[in-house]
Amino acid sequence: MKKTMLLAHRGFSGEYPENSPLAFQMAVEKTDADGFESDVHITKDGELVIFHDASVERTSNGTGWIKDYTYDEMLALDIGAWKSPEFAGQHIWTFDQLLDFCDETHMLLNMELKNYEVFYEGLEQRVIDAICAHKMQDRVFVSSFNHISMQHFKELCPDIETGLLYDKPFLDIDKYIERSNADNMHPRYMLLQYQPELVDLYHGRGMKVNTWTVNDEENMRDMLNRGVDCIISNYPD
Ligand code: G3P
Ligand code: MG
Repeated sequence: MKKTMLLAHRGFSGEYPENSPLAFQMAVEKTDADGFESDVHITKDGELVIFHDASVERTSNGTGWIKDYTYDEMLALDIGAWKSPEFAGQHIWTFDQLLDFCDETHMLLNMELKNYEVFYEGLEQRVIDAICAHKMQDRVFVSSFNHISMQHFKELCPDIETGLLYDKPFLDIDKYIERSNADNMHPRYMLLQYQPELVDLYHGRGMKVNTWTVNDEENMRDMLNRGVDCIISNYPD
């Protein structure tokens, strides 16, 4: 059986505050994950920061949109205490810090560009520049629910793998992907149970099937049996 890649979704986010330095460290220390999935936004003053939502209230002690925060204001937020008081004192990483950490720990990284709610100008080129500055084009691959962004990304940088995230069934998906230049597909896992023929269809086009967010053993086994290339989980342990 081929090796299926395992990625810690927002770090080891089942047990630790999502997208926090602790969640990434614990994925390395406590699991056999091959790498991480994470999410990137741009602050008001142009820093690339690691965070899931476009606004900060669900997972920090602040309120409002990341696009309206400076980097220093984002850094001052506590991003651990909302999960449990024992995790108070966690602070955001920049994209550069996460890349450094992946480099040190030899982890892979699936970077999700969060540009479907706030349309950050120039996000694609900024992400490309950071990955290339770290010479990590072969260890980082990107994805987005914004497929126009992925099309643009691939045109700007053919060397970095791109993926189309989606969470609802499509009409004529085969025709849709024919028009795309994406390398991989990133379906929510239930969609492969709903349309089992999709794994072969994507593989037939040379695309990897990287699926999320698979958090229980039964569905993990099912995805392994279906031959997916990557499982992204909150519980990589
Ligand atoms: O990349 C997989 C998954 O992270 C996509 O959705 O909302 O968890 O970022 P979300
Ligand atoms: Mg994500």
